[in-house]
Amino acid sequence: MTDVNQVIRLVQNHLSQADIDSPQAEAATIVAHVLGISRGRLGVLRALAERLDAKAVEQITQLAKARATRTPLQYLIGTAAFYGLEVKVAPGVFIPRVETEILVETTLRHFASHPGPLKILDLCTGTGAIAAALAEQLQQRNIPTQLWAIDICPQAAQLADENTTQYNVSVLCADATDHHNVITAAPELAPLRAQIDAVVANPPYIPTTTPVTQYEAEQDPDLALYGGSADGTAIPLRIAEQAAGWLAPGGFFMMEHDHTHAQQLVDALTADPAWEQPQTVKDLTGAQRFVMAIRTPSVKPTPNSSPTLAQ
Ligand SMILES: C[S@@+](CC[C@H](N)C(=O)[O-])C[C@H]1O[C@@H](n2cnc3c(N)ncnc32)[C@H](O)[C@@H]1O
Repeated sequence: MTDVNQVIRLVQNHLSQADIDSPQAEAATIVAHVLGISRGRLGVLRALAERLDAKAVEQITQLAKARATRTPLQYLIGTAAFYGLEVKVAPGVFIPRVETEILVETTLRHFASHPGPLKILDLCTGTGAIAAALAEQLQQRNIPTQLWAIDICPQAAQLADENTTQYNVSVLCADATDHHNVITAAPELAPLRAQIDAVVANPPYIPTTTPVTQYEAEQDPDLALYGGSADGTAIPLRIAEQAAGWLAPGGFFMMEHDHTHAQQLVDALTADPAWEQPQTVKDLTGAQRFVMAIRTPSVKPTPNSSPTLAQ
């Protein structure tokens, strides 16, 4: 039998030796996961210097060793924390990142006094983290909402389905850069062209010229990382174009992007009469990480094609 504080120190040592960024926080997450308790409850056990049985210590040690090989922690424990939710993750599907929570927060603030009902599209949904967080929060705020979450990768769509099963979210496996493909996958969306209240997206956006080098990030699939062109803007620009076609006049658009894309995306949306008020939003580190814009009310959307100027 070993004291929980000793076990946490042991795990911390393993992780520090492997150059893991936050060994203290990760050690606590691993121990809480094996004990099946919250981080808050772990604090109580630590204060009481609770003794752990040999089986728990063995499981914790195995996880610590696996993490020391730089396997992402989220794959080891099967979940990622996102906006207060425990989102299921699996190898082959992008692990949601904490910086994306700003997108959820900003969208919620935009609709804070909206009575609903809302119709929201989450393009490139991955695990469905954004859709699940928005659905959960809007439900808590009594704002009736229907969401659609779209990903081109079947494995991601399956996981998104599992993560959003308790909410009013329909998950589709389709190419979000092509609304014909989306409508083929979900014909019920055809009448919703130019009817959607919000389009949110965290698409792949990394420039192919600057591949990721952090080991954990390299475990994410290329399909989730790279933006389809040398500078990484090809897919984000197509997503913005698609958002314009889905949104109702006055609709809200917010998309995460590479920190090098801020000016280019704001310029592109400023030059497009479909948009007004394009602006950059920073992430928690102060990097320009999101573009946000409003679908121009004076531009008449057409149901099945790109927007055109009102006559
Ligand atoms: C950066 S990940 C973001 C996942 C999720 N939105 C999040 O924030 O955690 C990008 C996602 O876009 C998906 N994707 C890539 N190209 C796509 C396309 N053309 N249509 C739909 N999804 C696409 C990938 O499979 C991946 O799940």
